[in-house]
Amino acid sequence: MSISVPKIHPSILCADHGDLRRDIIRLTEAGADYMHMDVMDGDFVPNFGLGTEIFNCVRKYSNVPLDVHLMVREPLWHIKLFRELGAEIITVHPEASPQIVETLALIREVGAKTGIALNPETPVDTVEKLLPMCDHVLAMTVNPGFYGQDFLEFTIPKLQRLGELSKQYGFSLCVDGNINAERVKQLHPLGVTNFVIGSALFRENPADMIKQIKSEV
Ligand code: DX5
Ligand code: ZN
Repeated sequence: MSISVPKIHPSILCADHGDLRRDIIRLTEAGADYMHMDVMDGDFVPNFGLGTEIFNCVRKYSNVPLDVHLMVREPLWHIKLFRELGAEIITVHPEASPQIVETLALIREVGAKTGIALNPETPVDTVEKLLPMCDHVLAMTVNPGFYGQDFLEFTIPKLQRLGELSKQYGFSLCVDGNINAERVKQLHPLGVTNFVIGSALFRENPADMIKQIKSEV
């Protein structure tokens, strides 16, 4: 059985916004697979970010596809906007989406890949019916809203279950929340294929870390 090379999604929320151009260029040169764009509405989560200007800046300096993580209530109304801003994957929280089936259908209709994000405490059973509609599942390993939090160990059995389901349904399985090189080594064998990396990536040299993770498999 061949083992896939982990796909790395740097979290742009954690970049140096005083020198965003430099970080975008170096992440692109380092072989980032997606740019992870966290969008927060101050309602579903108690924080704000990232605005449309940041999307335009990332698009200006990079062709790496955008993976948009919408931590907003009623994301249905914002799908077209984020597709126009360049989103390749649009991920929504079922916990925040009263019209989740309609929302996933609209994401497909506008030509993007569908994703659902699950809060640490959201059980897989509650979303299993949605999995045939998903290209991507984002399993949160911290409560959404802030970078730099502690990894929640109790999410690991859920990751294992999602790893099995990903083979059945064919979605990519991604984790988000305090991921570092050690976590990639631990979670990749469970079937996690994609990794959002925030604080850990920008603590040292992002390019070295991406190259190291990809070469270790
Ligand atoms: C948390 C965001 C994450 C965050 C990751 O709400 O969804 O993408 O930026 O940052 P770290 O890796 O520091 O948890
Ligand atoms: Zn995120």
